[in-house]
Amino acid sequence: MSDAIEIKDLHKTYRSGFWLSKKKSLFGISLTVQKGEIFGFIGPNGAGKSTTIKILAGLLRRDSGSVLILGKDPTLTESRIKLGYLPEQPYFYDSLSGYELLKFYGGLSGLKGDLLEERINWALQLVNADADWIHRRLRTYSKGMQQRVGLAQAILHKPELLILDEPMSGLDPLGRRDVRNAILTLHSEGSTVFYSSHILSDVEEISSRVAMIIDGKIKHIGTVNEITKESERNSLEEVLAKEVTHVVP
Ligand SMILES: Nc1ncnc2c1ncn2[C@@H]1O[C@H](COP(=O)(O)OP(=O)(O)OP(=O)(O)O)[C@@H](O)[C@H]1O
Ligand SMILES: [Mg+2]
Repeated sequence: MSDAIEIKDLHKTYRSGFWLSKKKSLFGISLTVQKGEIFGFIGPNGAGKSTTIKILAGLLRRDSGSVLILGKDPTLTESRIKLGYLPEQPYFYDSLSGYELLKFYGGLSGLKGDLLEERINWALQLVNADADWIHRRLRTYSKGMQQRVGLAQAILHKPELLILDEPMSGLDPLGRRDVRNAILTLHSEGSTVFYSSHILSDVEEISSRVAMIIDGKIKHIGTVNEITKESERNSLEEVLAKEVTHVVP
């Protein structure tokens, strides 16, 4: 049986600006996520989480290394159909309502008619979306509302693999709880979940294993207990928080 995610020796360099100057962001990362896991991917700002996730979602090219999701190349249509993906900064057609957006994405993944309606209602309930705002235009949504609709979009088709880039960012404690519950429900229905965060406590309650990425390299992989031995915990949290305060003014 293939793994849900298999990354081997992945390297990525960005080229940007007028001179196409190079910025190396991933330095040979390797990790494997087995089917049935809830896997947390933690690291400070700029560590390389979104870069890795975009490559997993088939949206960004790698320099070298191998990447498989559900045993296949992520850019294949058959891989994409089995994937639910929440980007870090979802770009939505903001003149649509949340409900229309879900109809659109549900249609793309082959849902239609009564089943589509049923799944939209199921997903909205799971992310605790409010019936009042779901018919309003997306441009009027708060960050929390956008996150909820984005998450509903990612889970509509009950994907075999769910990849979420910072699903809890910008949410209050109740919102974080709703995201955790949605992840647990999807997991109990058979999905494998891979999600990123820069906050240890966001991943420790529900993840079977965690990988910590710093400066484009994997520093630890294991259960949260394994990587946060008493003596290490404070220093890990410091590393995660330091970079955040460094980057965010
Ligand atoms: N399009 C891009 N062009 C050039 N450099 C980029 C680009 N996207 C990301 N980078 C750089 O690659 C590194 C990794 O960025 P990435 O977005 O993967 O980090 P992250 O762990 O997701 O951070 P955050 O917690 O802030 O979301 C950073 O140094 C970033 O500046
Ligand atoms: Mg990111």
